[in-house]
Amino acid sequence: EQEHALHKTPQAFFQWLCDQRGYGPPQPTSDRNRWEHYIPGRGNGGNDRSRRYGYDYVDFSKHPSKFLVPGFFDTHIHASQFPNAGLGSELPLLDWLEKYTFSLENRFRAPDGEELPSARKRRLQMANTIYSRVINRTLAAGTTTASYFATIDTDTTNVLADLAVQHGQRALVGKVCMDCNPTYPEYVEPDAEALVRGTVEVLEHCAGLNVSVQSLGGPKMVQGIVTPRFAPLCLGELMKRLGALASKYNAPVQTHISENKDEIKLVADLFPECSDYTGVYDDHGLLGALTILAHAVHLTKHECKKILQKNCSILHCPSLNTFLTSGTAPVKRYLYEDKINVALGTDISGGCDYSILSAMKELIMVLHHLKMDKGKDKQQLVDTAPDNGLVTVADALYMATMGGAVACDMGSELGSFEVNKWFDAQLIDVMSPDLNIDVFDFQEPALDDTDMVDKVRQLVHRWIFCGDDRNCVKVWCNGRQVVDKEDRWVYLG
Ligand code: GUN
Ligand code: FE
Repeated sequence: EQEHALHKTPQAFFQWLCDQRGYGPPQPTSDRNRWEHYIPGRGNGGNDRSRRYGYDYVDFSKHPSKFLVPGFFDTHIHASQFPNAGLGSELPLLDWLEKYTFSLENRFRAPDGEELPSARKRRLQMANTIYSRVINRTLAAGTTTASYFATIDTDTTNVLADLAVQHGQRALVGKVCMDCNPTYPEYVEPDAEALVRGTVEVLEHCAGLNVSVQSLGGPKMVQGIVTPRFAPLCLGELMKRLGALASKYNAPVQTHISENKDEIKLVADLFPECSDYTGVYDDHGLLGALTILAHAVHLTKHECKKILQKNCSILHCPSLNTFLTSGTAPVKRYLYEDKINVALGTDISGGCDYSILSAMKELIMVLHHLKMDKGKDKQQLVDTAPDNGLVTVADALYMATMGGAVACDMGSELGSFEVNKWFDAQLIDVMSPDLNIDVFDFQEPALDDTDMVDKVRQLVHRWIFCGDDRNCVKVWCNGRQVVDKEDRWVYLG
């Protein structure tokens, strides 16, 4: 069995980050200290592609508070739920869905009968407003690629794809498929064929958009993703058809799995013939290398084996797990013992924070609790895991970037600054007057090598634990600059 690359990579990735800071091997050029030098289109050396997109690395001695990081991947976010962000912490998943979520999503949906043109216009306008806001907010927080759940409505799902392209964010866009809700039939579409047809429309709409925006080349800017919401709301037949559709189109698949104990019990009752929750998706042809599984809080060892064997990724959403009291996912174990690729998601609005930087912090904090509570649930943590079983900053940063790229099948083209990858990046500045992160130490001359690595480590830690999206001052996606906040700051020093 193939050794999972992730096992060793986070540390290497973190070392890479240190190297990016003007510490390490890049070839010097005459004026590389000028900041402008790193702006796309003005490259200095390197291979063709880095020349074209124009940075080499950041010179730490001249810009002590700034560094480049690969763009974040938010691998699980419900764009349609953005207006509800922050609501519902008092409820567990299934009640939260019923009280807050389904009704909001249904506002995107065309009525069964005829829709007046004026009503349709208002609905599309609403989708436009909400989706634009989600894209702008997440881009400004450094998310260069997002895997979105839209809603069950096809037209407005296509609007989300249009807007991602317009704003320059890379996106996977999913029409939410669900055909069975006995309590609230008005929230689902009982005709599986109609759901499959709508999904095909979204896949084809995205493929068409992509052709028109890919003049520069690079990995796809927008891609449809097959999106069965989760097993409790999907009949077996629907899941089978969506699995077959994904195979036919070679399309990715996203869904939810094993988020909450009541949900798991419900799935066991609904699908008694399947071995477990993972088995339900597997039996219906939904598990493959392009399948990304959100949450996975309470997986059994048997399920982990199956997920690894099928080469799926887990999307960990720490904000959600705490906000809706879903549980604590044993992420360190997934990474190092089960050797599954794990990426990060915000899960707006089950999660309450749209920033992947916050997700990194939450992940680390929550795993500290897991460590402290270890005696209570031995399954959750392995003693043999490195770093005392704690998720490190390096692990978190890896999951936020490279892990996301691997999950979205873009690992060979995005997720790090390796030669020949495409330039999805964010410029971080940890020092701004209202952020209170002082980095004056970095101004000191003549740091030796070990000192320098250590300073870089401190800088990154400060960013993750004390910073927020104001520290993300520029963002590029596919080499195009899409965010520029630098002018808003007056720099100290
Ligand atoms: N499971 C099914 N639908 C949802 C959703 O919208 N959010 C979360 N967190 N879990 C789900
Ligand atoms: Fe979700």
